[in-house]
Amino acid sequence: MSRIAYVDGVYRPHREAAVHIEDRGYQFADGVYEVIAVRCGRLVDEQLHLVRLRRSLGELRIEGALADAPLKVVFREVIRRNGIVEGIVYLQITRGAAPRDHGFPKSVRPVTVVTGRRARPPDPKLGRDGVKIITIPDIRWQRCDIKSVALLPNVLGKQQAREQGAYEAWQVDAEGRITEGTSTNAWIVTGDKLVVTRAADHAILNGVTRQALIEIIRREGFGFAERAFTVAEAKAAREAFLTSTTADVLPVVEIDGQPIANGVPGSLSEKLRGAYRAHVTESA
Ligand code: PDD
Repeated sequence: MSRIAYVDGVYRPHREAAVHIEDRGYQFADGVYEVIAVRCGRLVDEQLHLVRLRRSLGELRIEGALADAPLKVVFREVIRRNGIVEGIVYLQITRGAAPRDHGFPKSVRPVTVVTGRRARPPDPKLGRDGVKIITIPDIRWQRCDIKSVALLPNVLGKQQAREQGAYEAWQVDAEGRITEGTSTNAWIVTGDKLVVTRAADHAILNGVTRQALIEIIRREGFGFAERAFTVAEAKAAREAFLTSTTADVLPVVEIDGQPIANGVPGSLSEKLRGAYRAHVTESA
């Protein structure tokens, strides 16, 4: 089955699908995106993604984008036409195409692209063994709460992690506190079994996986705090883990070459990983 993409109102073969060279996403990174997991052919936490999408569009004052109802139809068509059972749907909405000028063009219409990809759920081995991460300075802008396609610091950070044999890089703010990974949210479990993740301020993306996991933590009655934590606190933590749509919940067993606790996935991380995976199955 050849891949099909949705581009600005038309379904086209993936390899021919294209946007205009003066699309502002291409020239200015003037656009937003979402990555939604597909499990058993269904979207996971679609509504949470749509709520975040509207917020991102609103913060960037991108007006006139496709409403939720037609967008949901497009998602389902892309899943159907690409025969996706397990995988992801990628959505990108830019301010549109117009002659290059930094200010908002007078008459411009948002351009929507939706693609789908078959992909296995995260390798279970990563969940069993845990992953290594490094820490790097957070060099991003002050509105990381907007899911914009401007991801250059994230790209450089992820590449640095890979070159150092790590799965992810946790970014660190000027006060020495961890903000988040380059494409994941960061969590620790303290010595007294409190699950901690940074509050959803302007320094992080409020992950859909993060939101779903907070619900689970509250429901299950685990101790929980939304606050920033330092690199030193993370290295001395009882457990650490990360979350995202494509990673699920992955235990972190090493930070900057230093093992976390005894260097194997923590029991609470494992429990939360199991609970989250059950939620994914339910949601789909
Ligand atoms: N990344 N933080 C950042 C900077 C992210 O890019 C992401 C998601 C997350 C986790 O968000 P969620 O739980 O909604 O996936 C946190 C996506 C998966 C990506 O860019 O591919």
